[in-house]
Amino acid sequence: MDPFIAGMPKAELHLHIEGTLEPELKFELARRNGVELPYSTVEEARAAYEFHDLTSFLVGYYDSMRVLLTEPDFYDLASAYLAKAASQNVRYAEIFFDPQAHTSRGVPFDVVIRGLRRALLDAERLHGIRAQLIMCFLRDFSAEYAMATLLESLPYREWIVGVGLDSDERGNPPEKFAAVFARARAEGYLLTMHCDVNQENSTEHIRQCLEVIGVDRIDHGVNTLDDPALAAEAARRGLAFTVCPVSNAFVTDGPKTDVVRRMLDLGLRVTINSDDPAYFQAYVAENLELVRRELDLDRDDLVRLERNAFDAAWLPRTTRDAYITELETYAAA
Ligand code: HPA
Ligand code: ZN
Repeated sequence: MDPFIAGMPKAELHLHIEGTLEPELKFELARRNGVELPYSTVEEARAAYEFHDLTSFLVGYYDSMRVLLTEPDFYDLASAYLAKAASQNVRYAEIFFDPQAHTSRGVPFDVVIRGLRRALLDAERLHGIRAQLIMCFLRDFSAEYAMATLLESLPYREWIVGVGLDSDERGNPPEKFAAVFARARAEGYLLTMHCDVNQENSTEHIRQCLEVIGVDRIDHGVNTLDDPALAAEAARRGLAFTVCPVSNAFVTDGPKTDVVRRMLDLGLRVTINSDDPAYFQAYVAENLELVRRELDLDRDDLVRLERNAFDAAWLPRTTRDAYITELETYAAA
């Protein structure tokens, strides 16, 4: 690992907390909760992490969640991630969680969010890492279930900074959730959506994100560059993209670092993130390392990527500026 990357103050903006479930913790939670796993060792579990597309990844991702049942389980999951992120000098993280992946199994919403929230508070005290939660709706469930989940979240409004949309994109366009996201906006949530890589109708989905939903950010979104008018509009809006190179390498035909290069050259606000680091076996530093290697980036380029991330963070301007000053002080030293 490049020591400059390892020590650089970083922000992570595309991170599914359920995607941080490392096999070791999965076994511990399975034991604690009396859940049977389809493998008997950590090595076997890791060897099963082989995906060729988003759909095949999601099967294992959801199946693994069967071990997450109680408030302490969610606390342990988020605590482990935040400790690991802090060890890579991630100073700030925006963390996706998928409440419907749990409520659909009979785990109550408040069990999930209380465990996560407690872990965030403790991690800030213990490691100085700050984090906020983004609630994602599962796009392969109905819009009605998403709306019910949105309403269920309202008592916890102060604990959630925004809403997102994830899971299987095929046949589940942004406009399916237009009413849900309009209500979320009215409740004060910020908005993001996954536009996964090389999907059916990728550019049409990105267009809907901009024109129908009015997102504040796009997760992945690398197909934006397939349409020059979309790319120009994203640049005009200063829209941020949370690109995840190692994830892309697992579920598409490559890490899409060429797109990162072109986004930088076009002045788009591209950021580098890890997505589901336990499954793709790369946290944010390893993702930055891959991009540095493939694009032969220098320190200024790396600082630019992290400045983009702090700039795109859903934090007050003064807080973002304080992180950027920290980043620039580090780079100058
Ligand atoms: N895309 C869609 N759904 C997901 C992802 C992703 O990158 N990660 C976890 N769920
Ligand atoms: Zn994702």
